[in-house]
Amino acid sequence: MADATDVKSPETETRTANLSLPDGQSLDLPVTVGVENECAVNVGALRSETGYITLDPSYGNTGSCQSDITFIDGEKGILRYRGYPIEQLAQKSSFTEVAYLLIWGELPTKQQLENFSMLLTENEMLHEGLRNAFEGFPPYGHPMAILSAMINASACYHPDLMEMSGEDDFPIAAAKLISKVRTIAAFSYKKSIGQPARYPNPALSYCANFLHMMFSIPYGRYEPEPEATKALSQFLILHADHEQNCSTSTVRMVGSSQANLSASVAAGVCALWGPLHGGANMAVIEMLTRIQETGMSVKDYVEKVKKREMKLMGFGHRVYKNFDPRAKILQKAAADLLDKLGITDRRLEIARELEEAALTDDYFVSRKLYPNVDFYSGIILNAIGIPTNMFTVMFAIGRMPGWIAHWYEAYKQAGRICRPRQIYTGPTERQYVPIAER
Ligand code: SDX
Repeated sequence: MADATDVKSPETETRTANLSLPDGQSLDLPVTVGVENECAVNVGALRSETGYITLDPSYGNTGSCQSDITFIDGEKGILRYRGYPIEQLAQKSSFTEVAYLLIWGELPTKQQLENFSMLLTENEMLHEGLRNAFEGFPPYGHPMAILSAMINASACYHPDLMEMSGEDDFPIAAAKLISKVRTIAAFSYKKSIGQPARYPNPALSYCANFLHMMFSIPYGRYEPEPEATKALSQFLILHADHEQNCSTSTVRMVGSSQANLSASVAAGVCALWGPLHGGANMAVIEMLTRIQETGMSVKDYVEKVKKREMKLMGFGHRVYKNFDPRAKILQKAAADLLDKLGITDRRLEIARELEEAALTDDYFVSRKLYPNVDFYSGIILNAIGIPTNMFTVMFAIGRMPGWIAHWYEAYKQAGRICRPRQIYTGPTERQYVPIAER
């Protein structure tokens, strides 16, 4: 067991990298080494010292920050939240406990967890004035558009979500977002199916309460299935954070302008929406359903992917180049849930056949393409009864604690506004031409 002295902290390293430039300039740049021996050349002085900038359009080689929250080793398929392996958290923890861990950095004591759960319960309702805001959306409005809009709309009724005057305001602001995002999602769903919104039940756990708001009806008996509640909790734990992914980087970027917490996570919802990111879970189930309904063979589908007619959605990852540990857990969770609920879903078999075909095909192996978090998650959501167009909303509910944790970390780091540079490739200077002469 390494003792405290064995743990390197980034600032203790004094390595340097030397940069030689075409015009003869040379610059020694400090190297930052993380606690897991990740190394970064710190280019903070590059432009002021040499006039050069770096160029890395999709940031595949660029670290945006130092963070204590989540560690990923993409080659070894390691994912840890505040040092705890995802496999242990998925098996032993609850979403509320993981949210606390991500935000405050330690597993809560019994009392701390009770206090946090109480804070979530006390803030699960929406202001009644917001009920009218839902009326402004068409029943077919996209749930991600509604979620992003209603997060900001909710903040209008809670100035503390907008004008955080210091760290004392943060816990209640965090609790409001984590708790209300459920209620917003469920109210939006009820509106879309023409049913009355169901108020949260303070006697229920985080996940059971969400299922209650989604599926109970007035004067009808509804008890959330324990297996569905457990599967939902595990789904949310597995989606809770993932270091500097597109949506979390968006939240940190927006927060760097000192925009409030709600505005920052609402921007994160929009970034997550894209099919290359959180929108992939919807695309996967649509892909599996298409294969099932057309009767197309998995082999034929894989051939179409190899001809670049379409992507194999739910496959590939910028960081994981071996396997996504979340996909392994979700594949087993999907099979267990279907078994416990007595549901058969041919699409799980199709997914497994696709994975098997891809993992033995050089097209995918040579590109290090493996199932990611979105490949099996839709099977679980479908079995729970979540409509497909809400799959990415479920991802957002899970990711909310991660977004909040990163926003808070950046807030405490009190860094400068994020403002990347560019290399200009447009027209050089030219004179205005009056329209009569064009
Ligand atoms: C998430 O960053 C995170 O951590 C995200 C996330 C999180 O928790 O926040 O993990 C959640 O967003 C998971 C990813 C969900 N997206 C999908 O499943 C969409 C399908 N996947 C791809 O679009 C892609 O793999 C990405 C977007 C996930 C990663 O894109 P990269 O890193 O930019 O990789 P790339 O597009 O440059 O691909 C490299 C090669 C290319 O082949 P060549 O042109 O070099 O021959 O692999 C091919 C790509 O064409 N490729 C695929 C493919 N993904 C990559 N080919 C077929 N099907 C795919 N899914």
